[in-house]
Amino acid sequence: MRNTRFDIALLSGAGGAEISGVDVAQELDDGTIAEIRGALNDHCVVFFRDQELDAERHKAFARRFGEIFIHPNYVGMSDDPEILMVRREPGDTTYVGEDWHTDTTMWPEPPLGAILYGIDIPPYGGDTMFANQYLAYDALSAGMKKMLDGLRAVHSDILVAGPQAGKNKGRSTKHRDGPDWRETRTTHPVVRTHPETGRKMLFVNKSYTVGFEGMTEAESRPVLDFLFEHGNRPEFTFRFRWQKGSIAFWDNRSTKHIALGDTGPFRRLLRRVQVCGDRPV
Ligand SMILES: [Fe+2]
Repeated sequence: MRNTRFDIALLSGAGGAEISGVDVAQELDDGTIAEIRGALNDHCVVFFRDQELDAERHKAFARRFGEIFIHPNYVGMSDDPEILMVRREPGDTTYVGEDWHTDTTMWPEPPLGAILYGIDIPPYGGDTMFANQYLAYDALSAGMKKMLDGLRAVHSDILVAGPQAGKNKGRSTKHRDGPDWRETRTTHPVVRTHPETGRKMLFVNKSYTVGFEGMTEAESRPVLDFLFEHGNRPEFTFRFRWQKGSIAFWDNRSTKHIALGDTGPFRRLLRRVQVCGDRPV
């Protein structure tokens, strides 16, 4: 039993917990950080409300959980490579995070997590949904688990970055798409074991996973499509409604997420810092 230093209210049966009684802009003691990390492991995403966080304090909070991850597809696009401003303006026809995904999984060591802070939030719309990938794995049949065990998947950023992806046109948040851009490609186990909880989870996503290692595209596609859809079945999901000053800190190993595009005529602006992770096993 943890010696809880703050209040935790669970958001759903599938995951998510709102933490109250913590001002993350302050210098927090090691015990409080350990409790937040524990809550993240237990509930996959933790939320905070009514925080006042400038960029420096945002980064300082992130550093309590690991090194800050520099995103290769956004580096050079703003003054500070440790920060991504996730911006959607009225009239944008596309936006960041529009498919169910885990962040940056084309990287050999994908981020442990991301800390997203709400700055300009529409009166309604633009919620973020999350899907618990422990539950997704647990719900698979014994036969499917056996088939996936030992299988590796190829992850690439070819669908979401670079000139061929065509994503910059129509959206305010720009990634690198110049002639010097190169695809990043790696492989990860399809079933990953969480380095802290020791639990198994499904680790494929629509934005980055392009096939199974050693199989053709045609062979991979039907099973991948099943796993993508299975991984975000409604009973594995939970939904966060943003307010100005809200924080969502997700475990990028055990969850997928999607930003909803129903912001209509309103601006949506959030600041993201990613925390480095380790090589999936
Ligand atoms: Fe994302």
